[in-house]
Amino acid sequence: MATTARLTLDPAFRIGPVEPRLFGSFVEHMGRCVYTGVFEPGHPAADADGLRTDVLELTRELGVTLVRYPGGNFVSNYRWEDGVGPVENRPARLDLAWRSLEDNRFGLNEFMVWAAKAGVEPMMALNLGTRGVAEALELVEYANYPGGTRLSDLRRAHGFDRPHDVRLWCLGNELDGPWQMGHKTAAEYGRLAAETARALKRFDPGLSLVACGSSNSAMPTFGAWEAEVLEATYEMVDHVSLHAYYDPSDGDVDSFLASGADMDHMIRSIAATADHVGARLRSRKKIKLSFDEWNVWYQSRFPGEAALDWTERPRLIEDAYDVTDAVVVGSLLITLLRNADRVGVACQAQLANVIAPIRTEPGGPAWRQSIFHPFALTARHARGQVLRVEPECATIATAKHGDVPAIWATATYDETTGELALFVVNRDRREPCALEVALPGELRPVEHLELTDDDLSAVNTAETPDRVRPRPGTGLRLRGRRASLTLPPVSWSVIRLAPDSPQE
Ligand code: AHR
Repeated sequence: MATTARLTLDPAFRIGPVEPRLFGSFVEHMGRCVYTGVFEPGHPAADADGLRTDVLELTRELGVTLVRYPGGNFVSNYRWEDGVGPVENRPARLDLAWRSLEDNRFGLNEFMVWAAKAGVEPMMALNLGTRGVAEALELVEYANYPGGTRLSDLRRAHGFDRPHDVRLWCLGNELDGPWQMGHKTAAEYGRLAAETARALKRFDPGLSLVACGSSNSAMPTFGAWEAEVLEATYEMVDHVSLHAYYDPSDGDVDSFLASGADMDHMIRSIAATADHVGARLRSRKKIKLSFDEWNVWYQSRFPGEAALDWTERPRLIEDAYDVTDAVVVGSLLITLLRNADRVGVACQAQLANVIAPIRTEPGGPAWRQSIFHPFALTARHARGQVLRVEPECATIATAKHGDVPAIWATATYDETTGELALFVVNRDRREPCALEVALPGELRPVEHLELTDDDLSAVNTAETPDRVRPRPGTGLRLRGRRASLTLPPVSWSVIRLAPDSPQE
């Protein structure tokens, strides 16, 4: 028997504008994300720069707006100088994060060329693990200063006359984690981040800086770390980072399906922590959140870094995603939009092969994983203002997150076209849900797509790349100012509605 739910879409109740930077991704030197992922000289689809055009096309289709680079854990032992200049002079190095060999064929300038072709904003991470203020400043001078200094002229000599002008910089990565090269206490990191931020803002006050928050919400110092780090850096940084990965094989399915509720709790906790520090410092500034690593990750299948063995481009965490995973990814995007007033940046980790929406084979095809679809459709159709949507619905009891609403939703309103887009997940594993939607006026349907399947464990592969994909939804009915439809169990849907005539 179907459950019932109701919600109201009213353009008068807004959370804030859809921030394009919410549709970010992440390219790390890890496994096959860079090598044989985005970059594979000699591949039939590679262009003159060795960039895979099939992956570039899928990146554009995915609707990615921004990409974080070069790590991740990788950055904490990385020397950016190794990856610039003539390729034949670049050294091979040990990547201690992933016990891999790095030949540095791809570096900062190759990434900037790739980002321009993909049409994405670059977000660079600095090594504050094994390095410090001086090296961070040198990298920013190399990347951003127009010319006439040693490092900016070096970039020009490397063939990049115009500065890359990177606006967004991460002050290190996950430095609270004991697995991180150069792991620090909050006091040590806070001081280093503050001094680095002070120097970078002296160089260019317009840079946007991200202080590292906790690596995940299970860290023993979660909350306390952010408070201490922000106490030291508050007036010099613009964002604090959050990272969360949800593991389908860790615990019950209902809890996994409720991952969006957990992410929501995490966002609210860190926003409250930042505001507490702001109050203590009597500051009127609001720190934004950079959710710069999020995704589904079958972490319990990963043997750990110590089990890896000094190879080049190993096949690392190439998780195949099923239908349930895609529904959860859709619900995580809903959570990010529901917090659009606070989350300024978000990056799905990662882009290609490594826990990624895009998979490739060396010398072979590239294809879309199931999780590609909710990301692409949300990035394409979330436009204008995010509306406050509060479904009235049943709750589901979960072992990890308590009672959560069965229906998780957000909507956007495009003032220029009058179009409304409703993104909604039914987390219920057993029952469909009859959803009634109160509308602000009489509207016509534009599109109704849903992602669900009789076989929730179905995945896309090189041989069956379109096994899991969104399909037209059925049964959407519009009567006056009401819409009704049935949401299948474990489903993600997008419903687009528009006025009969275009807006004035
Ligand atoms: O995305 C994979 C890894 O997860 C990143 O390198 C690290 O920052 C996080 O722990």
